[in-house]
Amino acid sequence: MKIQGVWHRSLREDPSGAITILDQRWLPHDLRWVQLATADQCAEAIRAMWTRGAPLLAAVGAYGLGFALQDDPSDRSLTAAYTTLLSTRPTAVNLRWALDAIVQGVRDRPEAERANQALAIARDICDEEVETNQAIGRHGLGLIKDLAMAKPPGQPVNILTHCNAGWLATIDWGTALAPIYMAHDQGIAVHVYVDETRPRNQGASLTAWELANHGVPFTLVVDNAGGHLMQHEQVDLCIVGTDRVTANGDVCNKIGTYLKALAANDNGVPFYVALPYTTIDWTIKDGLAEIPIEQRPHDEVTHIWGQTAAGEMANVQITVDNATTANYGFDVTPARLVTALITERGIIPATAEGLAMLYT
Ligand code: MRU
Repeated sequence: MKIQGVWHRSLREDPSGAITILDQRWLPHDLRWVQLATADQCAEAIRAMWTRGAPLLAAVGAYGLGFALQDDPSDRSLTAAYTTLLSTRPTAVNLRWALDAIVQGVRDRPEAERANQALAIARDICDEEVETNQAIGRHGLGLIKDLAMAKPPGQPVNILTHCNAGWLATIDWGTALAPIYMAHDQGIAVHVYVDETRPRNQGASLTAWELANHGVPFTLVVDNAGGHLMQHEQVDLCIVGTDRVTANGDVCNKIGTYLKALAANDNGVPFYVALPYTTIDWTIKDGLAEIPIEQRPHDEVTHIWGQTAAGEMANVQITVDNATTANYGFDVTPARLVTALITERGIIPATAEGLAMLYT
């Protein structure tokens, strides 16, 4: 990931053993790196969305469990920290996957070895995550190349994305954005329509910032613009990330994803979902019935954060006092609306057979 031309990872381990992450609440206006050294700090960073994005939650959660074992390597401490960390964000399944990986890796070890073993697993999760996303990028790049070949010379491939599924949501590269970065780096003309993604504006504040830092041309649009753009043939394909995919291929992602999939389906625009294997929940089939949808605080709907002309961060109210709100963080796109899944092992149909074929 490039910030002002310098390559970074979104999470790094410090010589002290703590981790440093970007506090994403302040982006794009302020670049604040923060250090996390305890399980409670990791849990708070996840819960309050200093850090976010399904794969990154997994990495921060894994380190959190390692830090808990440094303080107290007992079974009781392991169970308590597991429960606390898991409860922070209920929808993205990668967090559960990482916490389970740590528990499996340490539970039969002597207590004296547990913390080191947990932190070694956390490190591996981060390194593997980067390789996985590069593989997702290479597979998705093929799709963009094919579309570029069919375009008149000089015309960019127009890609619509929702929320932030770039490097800020992972350790590096991202999922949905990895193919876009690779295409751009290879000199293929790409242009991205970035959904603002209310209520927290991950598109406006995070995806736009990432793309700007990498030099990828983009246009920021309000959430409701996607349908219009697709009706007017302004979008060649959609690529989004995901927080959980069921064994049948239903896709849970940031609220509003479903509406984009409907519009894409109605207009014959391919709708792709990019994901690593850690996002698949093999224990469930029916996304609508079985995925817990996180409900988030009232003030995310009634208020909005931004920077004033004087350069100060400010939170302003955008509705009447005491408005009743509903704030569902995610929605489920049924598999039938998904053209295909872009995984680290290849591009597969969003079906039980497609998923099972690759991962068994
Ligand atoms: O609530 P957030 O910002 O954590 O939601 C993130 C998303 O919906 C992403 O698109 C998803 O986690 C995929 S990230 C590679």
